[in-house]
Amino acid sequence: MSSWTSLGSLRENMSSLRDRVDRVVTRLVLNRVNTMEEFNRYVSKLQPREFPRYREMSPLKRLEFETVVAVLSLELKSIDFLDIGPAFGDSLDVCHERGANRIEFIEWDPFFFTFNRLKRWPIGYQMNHLRGLHHLEQRKFDLIWCKGAISADRFNKWPRRKTSQGQLSNWLDHLLRLGRPSCTIILCPHWINKDGRRKTENVEQSVFARVVQSKGFSLLPTIPNHNHEPGYPSTFLMRLPSQARSHGTGCLPLARS
Ligand SMILES: C[S@@+](CC[C@H](N)C(=O)[O-])C[C@H]1O[C@@H](n2cnc3c(N)ncnc32)[C@H](O)[C@@H]1O
Repeated sequence: MSSWTSLGSLRENMSSLRDRVDRVVTRLVLNRVNTMEEFNRYVSKLQPREFPRYREMSPLKRLEFETVVAVLSLELKSIDFLDIGPAFGDSLDVCHERGANRIEFIEWDPFFFTFNRLKRWPIGYQMNHLRGLHHLEQRKFDLIWCKGAISADRFNKWPRRKTSQGQLSNWLDHLLRLGRPSCTIILCPHWINKDGRRKTENVEQSVFARVVQSKGFSLLPTIPNHNHEPGYPSTFLMRLPSQARSHGTGCLPLARS
């Protein structure tokens, strides 16, 4: 194992444990918050790292989502939309402004979850999407957007182990079941990088790309203002068939729970 890998894994584990403890404690506090004023007071008091950062990036994040919507000619009016990991929720806002019918999100960060919950119109699920997609109703959404809430390297870590590929494959099966016929699913994973260099240099040859494409997703050409090197170089797109099929790639049979 290289020193990059072992030190990197230790750091990842420590920071993930710290994040988990922080999330539980903060969640207990923020679940009782009922107004934006109260929420803003907690933000000033607790000074979270990510919330102010994403608030500042909001115009950029809005542009990223709007660009993809324009490039793929997606209709937002009257659709049922799901964002997996919306952070500040710019995609949710755009869908709301453009007349989406139902807007839902999955977010485990207590600040982002509470902020979006307090907007009142979206339906939020505060959970780990890697474990909880099966809790959502199947065949419900017309558009599913997941940018940055999945780390491609998580599945590239042990390329020879079947487990990580199996986890990704299961997650994708659950994801595909959430879409109704003709649903568009857009996946833009995050890739770990340092000093401008990506840990996985060849994205197209990665375990992640291979498994995702085996499910029927296609890798899109780079979309300026949305794809960014080195962290967000790739976007995977799935358009489910217009008629639900009981077998085959793209539209999976309903799971027997
Ligand atoms: C890198 S940010 C991306 C935010 C936004 N989608 C964007 O494009 O800028 C990832 C977001 O997903 C959330 N997230 C990451 N992993 C998650 C998980 N396993 N379950 C639920 N939310 C998760 C994070 O809290 C964060 O808000």
